[in-house]
Amino acid sequence: MKSLMLTDIGSLAVVPRGPISGRRMAEIEFIRNAALVIDGGRIAWFGRAQEQPGSFAGQRLSARGGTVLPGLIDCHTHIPFCGDRRGEFVRRIAGESYLSIMQAGGGIRVTTNAVRAASLDGLVEASLPRLARMLALGVTTVECKSGYGLSPEHELKQLRAVRELAARQPIELIPTYLGAHALPAEFENRAADFLAAIADAGLLKQIADERLARFIDVFCDRGAFDVQQARRVLLAGANAGLKAKVHADELAQIGASRLAGELRAVSADHLETIDEDGLESLKSGGVVAVVLPGTSFFLGIHHADARRIMNADVPLALATDCNPGSSHIESLPLVLNIACCQLRLRPSEALAAATANAAAAIDAADRIGAIAIGHQADLTVLDAVDIDDWMYSPGRNRTAMVIKSGRVVFSQT
Ligand code: NIG
Ligand code: FE
Repeated sequence: MKSLMLTDIGSLAVVPRGPISGRRMAEIEFIRNAALVIDGGRIAWFGRAQEQPGSFAGQRLSARGGTVLPGLIDCHTHIPFCGDRRGEFVRRIAGESYLSIMQAGGGIRVTTNAVRAASLDGLVEASLPRLARMLALGVTTVECKSGYGLSPEHELKQLRAVRELAARQPIELIPTYLGAHALPAEFENRAADFLAAIADAGLLKQIADERLARFIDVFCDRGAFDVQQARRVLLAGANAGLKAKVHADELAQIGASRLAGELRAVSADHLETIDEDGLESLKSGGVVAVVLPGTSFFLGIHHADARRIMNADVPLALATDCNPGSSHIESLPLVLNIACCQLRLRPSEALAAATANAAAAIDAADRIGAIAIGHQADLTVLDAVDIDDWMYSPGRNRTAMVIKSGRVVFSQT
């Protein structure tokens, strides 16, 4: 692979390797008038333009005075899915809650019917345009959960769709097995039987051996699975080599983030109802807190207290939670806008949460999410003078160019 120098960088966001917590999230260094050299798909040099290596003989590419960031990482999505739940969206606007719609037979089960009816190709075709739109928003890595199949056959189909999607477009996809997302209708009142099937040792071994997933996740909440059930599933996953993630403390406080800490999960996600014990547990377990402000915005519920999480010195990540029910939002920049405007994060904190800490939330902080020598050259070039300018314009796509592993994969004409 040829070497490439990105020149005319107005502002280079030198995000350090994650996880970063507390005040360090606000202390990102920016280099004005910078350049960056890519060699073999990795960052080989960066610094002030006037100090660039004189011997450079490769190709040059202008950032046109824009801002350069590590490629954005969406560390929590429910892609691939198909079908839509816009009817539920309108019912919620009229006053029904997510939980009451779920208890009346709506919610995840509706999407499960659509996903079970779809072929693997159908799931791929429904997801390709979403990923193309995410790429155009500056996103270079996306975590993808199963969890709408809810049977070994259809969960495997979803995970295989992720593999196919990874081969067909430039965004890197990180698969997570979320078999314990909801109790499907045919297992009503038979949760133990369902969990035995979905957390069967042979199935988990197959998922791990075929590298169909790197993580195992459980929806541990009121109306979903309790702590004891979640612990059993996550331990079975760990036995097969799948690292734990937890959908925790979203709808009610049942001790899910304490479980995440106890199991030293890679991440605990949602956290709208986290309490002091939960926070302490995340900190002592080295767990990344993934907050999903798009979900609170979309459901009209209160936001997680991101500032409290940062003050507790727990690394904070942000993601879209992109799914057809609780967050029909593909735009990670929009989620960062919400985090700035409603959760009062500073732009630099939001950036750290969607790069270095999002990388930590998928256990990849050693190679992505930072501007560091040797890191994968995943870069987002913005048509913005700095990140304050970027966050100051919600709803407007400021992405000028996206580079994945040193290759230009998107360019705004
Ligand atoms: O992360 N909380 C659980 N699961 C998803 C919702 C999925 C759905 O409603 O389809 C979430 O919000
Ligand atoms: Fe989710």
